[in-house]
Amino acid sequence: MSNASSSHADTAIVIFGASGDLTKRKLLPALYQLVQDGYAPKRFAIIGAARTAMTTDEYRQITRDALEKASPNKPLDDQAWHKFSEMIDYHTLDFANLEDFKGLRDRLEGMGFQNWLFYCSVPPSVFPVITAQLGATGLNDEETGWTRIIVEKPFGVNLETARSLNDEMHKVFKESQIYRIDHFLGKETVQNILALRFANTIFEPLLNRNYVDNVQITVAEDLGMEGRGAFYEEAGILRDMIQNHIMQLLCLMAMEPPVGPWNGQFHPLEAGALRDEKAKVIRALKPITEQHCTNCVVLGQYTAGNIGSSSVPGYLEEEKVSPHSSTATYAAIRVEIDNWRWAGVPFLLRSGKRLPVKNTEITITFKRPPLNLFPQPSQPNMLHINIQPDEGVTISFDAKTPGLTSDLRRVEMDFNYRDFGNTGPSAYERLILDAMNGDASLFPREDEVVASWAWIEPLLTTKLPMRTYEAGTWGPSEANDLLRRDQTWLELPKG
Ligand code: BG6
Repeated sequence: MSNASSSHADTAIVIFGASGDLTKRKLLPALYQLVQDGYAPKRFAIIGAARTAMTTDEYRQITRDALEKASPNKPLDDQAWHKFSEMIDYHTLDFANLEDFKGLRDRLEGMGFQNWLFYCSVPPSVFPVITAQLGATGLNDEETGWTRIIVEKPFGVNLETARSLNDEMHKVFKESQIYRIDHFLGKETVQNILALRFANTIFEPLLNRNYVDNVQITVAEDLGMEGRGAFYEEAGILRDMIQNHIMQLLCLMAMEPPVGPWNGQFHPLEAGALRDEKAKVIRALKPITEQHCTNCVVLGQYTAGNIGSSSVPGYLEEEKVSPHSSTATYAAIRVEIDNWRWAGVPFLLRSGKRLPVKNTEITITFKRPPLNLFPQPSQPNMLHINIQPDEGVTISFDAKTPGLTSDLRRVEMDFNYRDFGNTGPSAYERLILDAMNGDASLFPREDEVVASWAWIEPLLTTKLPMRTYEAGTWGPSEANDLLRRDQTWLELPKG
């Protein structure tokens, strides 16, 4: 994590969508933690901005409730809360009303902050309106310090809207001022993919078509809609998880090492170099044409079932979901990367709601030995990169069991993040701080986002069969049709 630096010593963050779900669950707790950890700017203000008229004191109360809900087992320290609460302000603002933005500008100038960070925690349809208003009121200028804007995912809802959103934003902000957030990139274990691959020499020589049989990337969730039915009806699994989170995991797993210049100071995560390599992976993805969709993609929707011992409703019975909805809550996709390293290796991507567990893992399955010398066939070696919740890396291999036979048994070598004794900052904490420090490495760039929408577009426009799966199972059985006969989807453990 970068240290607090003078580049953001005097900063106000304005959150559009101040009382939204994400703000309460993730952003406010992350900002509170930044202050507690001593990473926040010396002079810092958090200005909630939303349409609901309320006083600053009322917004402070909302913030306090949100912090308490986010850490139910850890009572708020009174002194720490008092200090934090004084940094909080509220500005009532209708996104369509220019006068409200002028008022915001007056307020920021009155408070005398040099640097302004705007956080759009609102649906994508509102981004262009906010951006235009910021431009019209000069809230994009960088006269006294820097001005940056963080935009939540999904960035657009398809290729056309992503392109036009980029165009609209570029009328007001330079690309270097725009931070498109994908919170998966803020996770320690996601950043560790690069450390594992490029800070070591024992893995990288094997990570290619000569040794790898397949790569599975699974982002499984046991949660259902949790009141987000209306959002999900629009997004579905393809826009909510595949175009962004899974795509970023795929990029980090498949990319080439970033190229300098380092000027003697190795900074491997320099934004441009890293983002160049990720963009190349997306451009090398074998296109899934409309004719091929049915061979490479399986979509599904959950029906009622059980998660653990609790029975849960099906997607169509969820609040704010149409009883005739054809929104997918599960996707399995087989994709190939047409470059020299990976040609012919299936990357098996999978994500779903109401699967049996919450678990995110990248599993590399290696090819079998060329000859079998042992009584029973050996099993393929696997490298498991456990992103969450059991954060770490595991290597599975076969070993001879003790005794007079040559029998083999599966064994594992393990590294767990618990061994470090501390968990590091939350994803949002890390990313907000990076944005304040002007480090865009962990934020997808314009071309990455456009390329990933271009790749996924046929899946959004083609009418694919909608399979069903019972909540609490690993998805529709049709997903097996994406695999060779000797391959299986992995069933991940509960972390
Ligand atoms: C969000 C999605 O971006 O990521 C949610 O909108 C999903 O649907 C969430 O539940 C998963 O994030 P995490 O960090 O809990 O794995």
